[in-house]
Amino acid sequence: MTSEVTVPLLDLRAQYATIKAQIDKAIQGVLETQRFIMGPEVSSLEEEIASYCDARFAIGCASGSDAVLLAMMALDIGPRDEVICPTYTFFATAGSIARLGAVPVFADIDPETYNVDLGSVRQAASRCKRLKAIMPVHLYGQTVDMSAYLALGEELGVPIVEDAAQAIGSRDSDGKLAGSRGVIGCFSFFPSKNIGAYGDAGILTTNDADLAERLSILRLHGSKPKYYHKIIGLNSRLDALQAAILRVKLRHIAAWHEGRRENAEAYDGAFAAAGAATSAVPLTAGGFPLRTPQPPSGQATHIYNQYVIRVPGPMRDELRQHLQDQRIGTEIYYPVPLHMQECFAYLGYAQGDLGESESAARETLALPIYPELTDQQLAHVTDTIVAYIGEHACATKA
Ligand SMILES: Cc1ncc(COP(=O)(O)O)c(C=O)c1O
Repeated sequence: MTSEVTVPLLDLRAQYATIKAQIDKAIQGVLETQRFIMGPEVSSLEEEIASYCDARFAIGCASGSDAVLLAMMALDIGPRDEVICPTYTFFATAGSIARLGAVPVFADIDPETYNVDLGSVRQAASRCKRLKAIMPVHLYGQTVDMSAYLALGEELGVPIVEDAAQAIGSRDSDGKLAGSRGVIGCFSFFPSKNIGAYGDAGILTTNDADLAERLSILRLHGSKPKYYHKIIGLNSRLDALQAAILRVKLRHIAAWHEGRRENAEAYDGAFAAAGAATSAVPLTAGGFPLRTPQPPSGQATHIYNQYVIRVPGPMRDELRQHLQDQRIGTEIYYPVPLHMQECFAYLGYAQGDLGESESAARETLALPIYPELTDQQLAHVTDTIVAYIGEHACATKA
């Protein structure tokens, strides 16, 4: 019955179908005004995001990559300065540091949450001579323990910048929102995010009025007033058309987060019934060779920008191929940790230096989790995975 079902990793057309009239009207509104650069749509979105993220200020920019770059620039990170960040993240986190001539100092992850591990950050800090900031990433939509990071930042005398690109609206263990506690929060509106633009867009949050001012100048080539350049910035404005689209989407974000959570629960339930444990139990402990995400505890919430399972390394790639054959899209976030990337060879890391991230890169697989997934699609994914792993695990034992 489910054999003809197709499940793309993400289906943005399904989302557009549900909000088409509102989106088309918003785009038409911008076309009528012909105000494409900055203007009221951008400032309204900035106010709405600041309020949504519980931050005093929000400053739009051209992408999440520019958000992390602008954050580093606003903090005056420069040549030979050191910034600690996870190795298991999207390239932009470390790219923003390296582009300024600064040194990304990589820390390993906690295999339970896939977020950067505080102990590893401490170790990295002990090797630093010019540590200027720490940039944890709230990976997959779940925040790090911000209280612990803020305490460490205070102890070391450095700011904590939140790379919250994947985590808009998620709450930490104190119930506080991503991007509301670090000196700057960086968000991406890449189309695959829980709230995605129709192109590139990003935003920064801060509670510091001076930093807000500096960021808003930096994104305009450092000029204020126009043509008078106080500092060297870049052209990184958030497009008015994207702002209008994002304002519509922001009205739906709570329902979309909820839809993703319900899908995650459906996956968790089906996989647990087959014998899977959560990522709190290492694969080496045995049992059914599948681990589901460890759900957040206490006041923390997960927005499931990604739902990532874990299976033994050799099986992961075969499973992925099998899912593709069954018309199920998946992705690997991320196949190569940043300390092993060719462009960072000059930093001198070796295989085995950050072992948890290296294992995660071999064993993790992101499944379709978008809120418009139907029950039939969810069942096709879980049935296909459970059947494949069941057979494969038996074959391995035999
Ligand atoms: C953790 C992280 N940081 C930064 C970025 C960069 O965002 P963008 O793709 O909008 O440039 C992303 C985007 O995927 C991300 O996941």
